[in-house]
Amino acid sequence: MSDHADAQPGIADINYSRFLNSVSAARQQSTMKSLGLLISKSPPSLINLCGGVPNSSTYPFKKASITMHDGSIIEIEEHLMKIALNYSLSQGVPDLVSWLKDLQIRVHNPPTVNYSPEKGQMELCITNGCLEGLSKVFEMLVSPGDNILVSDPVFEGALRVLKPLGCNIIGVPSDNQGIIPRALKEVLSKWRPEDVRKPESRSPKFLYTVPTGGNPIGMTLSTERKKAIYQIAREYDFLIVEDDPYFYLQFTKPLAPSFLSMDVDGRVLRADSMSKVISPGVAEFYRLQRDAILLSADRWLTGLAEWQCPHAGMFLWIKIKNIKDTENLILEKALKKEVIFAPGNCYTIDKSKPCPYVRAAFSSCSPEQIDQGIQRLAMAIREEITSGEEINGFTEENDCSQ
Ligand SMILES: Cc1ncc(COP(=O)(O)O)c(C=O)c1O
Repeated sequence: MSDHADAQPGIADINYSRFLNSVSAARQQSTMKSLGLLISKSPPSLINLCGGVPNSSTYPFKKASITMHDGSIIEIEEHLMKIALNYSLSQGVPDLVSWLKDLQIRVHNPPTVNYSPEKGQMELCITNGCLEGLSKVFEMLVSPGDNILVSDPVFEGALRVLKPLGCNIIGVPSDNQGIIPRALKEVLSKWRPEDVRKPESRSPKFLYTVPTGGNPIGMTLSTERKKAIYQIAREYDFLIVEDDPYFYLQFTKPLAPSFLSMDVDGRVLRADSMSKVISPGVAEFYRLQRDAILLSADRWLTGLAEWQCPHAGMFLWIKIKNIKDTENLILEKALKKEVIFAPGNCYTIDKSKPCPYVRAAFSSCSPEQIDQGIQRLAMAIREEITSGEEINGFTEENDCSQ
């Protein structure tokens, strides 16, 4: 799947220390962690009087068996339970890390696999979900006042982590194919590529984006755009934080190549997630859910709203016509009708600006519930438009204040 051919030849010499904030730069290698690595590579006959690990014979759980959907049973035997409950390497349980590395190599074939660690060799660590991984990345990179780029609109969870870090969040406009490379170039035009490595340039450190079935807009960045964006990242020497929890929820095959698969320089930090893809056949399930919501949108929202067909993920991004901002529509009108969506302004960088969009998640409701929900939204839109007209009518005709 990897698509290295279009990348410019030659590996850029990335000065990683340029990107770290002072807290991360001050971190030192832990001697105990290095010893832990040595121990993990030693034979089981090693007598370990080194680490303060709990004695696994004292654990209350011995073994477990898990019944799967198809009736098969997975047994977690005693020795595995001891490993699962005890300390492990900070990076994650070695067997799982190694299995996940093989998966990344099989799926993305990153050019960096065989690089030296200083040149950005692919590494991975396991976190409690991809948002925890992203938080760690942001907390490692961002200093107050740093400029950073995000696709706009943007996943609200990322904004919640980024904003308190005090950085200057610059939105890059997206359309139905994701980030627009031309718009990215325009945003960057206030810096000169020849200056970006100088500390005083304050050029953006990274671009954060959700390239597949993006949350909230549901759109997937085309391969051509990914290549163009990667080249811009090389030119302006910024990192790409690729948040890709919907990668395996693509409704068409082959799966779109990731930024990681193009990463000749070692400038991509990729976050994957197990939360949405833990069962087989899940992409097909969501494709049917997507078809159901499109059918309901056609039935109830034609003339009232506009939307694009998502090819991955679990979101439909709906632009409501004739309503400037959807917060009142959703939190007052729709909620009274017992349906709720996410108002679009949850995902905008500047929350004070009106936003005419709503995000519908088609993941967890039945097709019948989806249909009823969209019908109720249509009723709420009609009501909101009518009450808006009444208010406007009153303002224009009856306003005595002047
Ligand atoms: C774009 C995006 N990133 C990250 C996450 C969080 O993923 P996880 O549950 O693995 O932390 C979500 C979930 O809503 C998401 O939509």
